Amino acid sequence: MKYGIPRGTKDILPAEAKLWQLVEQACREIFALYDYSEIRTPIFEFTDLFTRSIGSGTDIVKKEMYTFADRKGRSLTLRPEATAAVVRAGIENNLISIESLAKLYYLGPMFRYERPQAGRQRQFHQAGVEVFGSADPRLDAEVIELSVRLFEKVGLKDLVVNLNSVGCPKCQPEFRGAIKKHFAQHISDMCQDCRDRLEQNPMRILDCKEAHCQKYLEKAPASLDYLCPECKNHFDQVVGWLGNLGIKYQVNDRLVRGLDYYTKTAFEVIARQLGAQNAVCGGGRYDNLVAELGGKATPAIGFAIGLERVISLITDHQLPITNEGNIKLFIATLGEAATKQGFALLSQARALGISADMDFLGKSLKAQLKNADRLKAAFVYVMGDEEVKKGSAGLKNMATGEQSEVEFSQLITRLK
Ligand code: HAM
Repeated sequence: MKYGIPRGTKDILPAEAKLWQLVEQACREIFALYDYSEIRTPIFEFTDLFTRSIGSGTDIVKKEMYTFADRKGRSLTLRPEATAAVVRAGIENNLISIESLAKLYYLGPMFRYERPQAGRQRQFHQAGVEVFGSADPRLDAEVIELSVRLFEKVGLKDLVVNLNSVGCPKCQPEFRGAIKKHFAQHISDMCQDCRDRLEQNPMRILDCKEAHCQKYLEKAPASLDYLCPECKNHFDQVVGWLGNLGIKYQVNDRLVRGLDYYTKTAFEVIARQLGAQNAVCGGGRYDNLVAELGGKATPAIGFAIGLERVISLITDHQLPITNEGNIKLFIATLGEAATKQGFALLSQARALGISADMDFLGKSLKAQLKNADRLKAAFVYVMGDEEVKKGSAGLKNMATGEQSEVEFSQLITRLK
């Protein structure tokens, strides 16, 4: 019997995993530079957490969650995103307060039952940040700057920051009313998704990708025209600070996010070369979510980067891959005594931090040397019965071809 991988998931094989490590390392470094600390939350949470925060009318909650009952009949869901979980953990562990900033980051898999296509999987990975405790527009600019610097660090170019403000509970009702009024005139000619959204979540109509609906989207009211004075002032300040930081952006008043918790700033970083699924980062402010999930009212902002999409861009750009993973020492042996001695040296080398390997397949000496080459070993130590008797063997520097006789007891010191 053959087993296949579930649709929408991917194996990350060793050659590609190196690139993942590089990107994850870059994320950790830049997050630390901006003073974020890592948080790790469970892969599954109670379903209510996501329904409540992401919104019952969103595509994610309506049709994309991996939801199941555990053995006691409790409804659990594989996390489709991490913001809600970080808020839950922050409240539960008293990390969130208005007296101090909590700056948290995470890396890990998320799960959404979407139709798989290029750049869209059912298990995918995000690197994200969440900051709690400040409504200062300077922070919005800093968070956007952070995402831009991260992309620069991994060598991505030609990305565009799309910026919008989706308002707050004070101004959203009027905007929602205007949207509804606009689309109500055309809805009979629009797709089924748009029709479903008109009552439940009219703002999401702006995100429709159907070619036929586009002409109605173009003329739709823009959220920026409906902002209350507080939201307008906040948006103007974010724009001002981005200017000060020298961060390029485009105001996109059509930008709506696929999750309901956003207030004021919403942004996405777009890589046009990616085609339909071209957002490499999405985020924004969510000043009401902490209170909605039972914490004390605390403003917050964050983003998440889609790592598969970032990796695909780096692969396209052919960024250099490091030699990390190539071993330093290969011990080639001939005969039982040498294999025994070699096995002991192998363990010693590793214990002292030297990456090393030897043959476990009973291969000929010639085949072992070939394998050492394939593994790109920096040094090869070759020993047979003769060498075991002498207590020393030849150590070959594979880069220079230079060979010298080295005693067993001196091997590790020499390599160090
Ligand atoms: P999101 O826009 O749903 O936001 O996801 C963020 C990024 O994750 C997207 O821009 C995309 O790169 C990637 N992504 C999403 N779905 C998939 C998928 N099916 N396959 C591959 N990549 C995908 C959030 O998740 C929010 N929690 C972000 C946030 C954090 N807002 C505030 N804090």
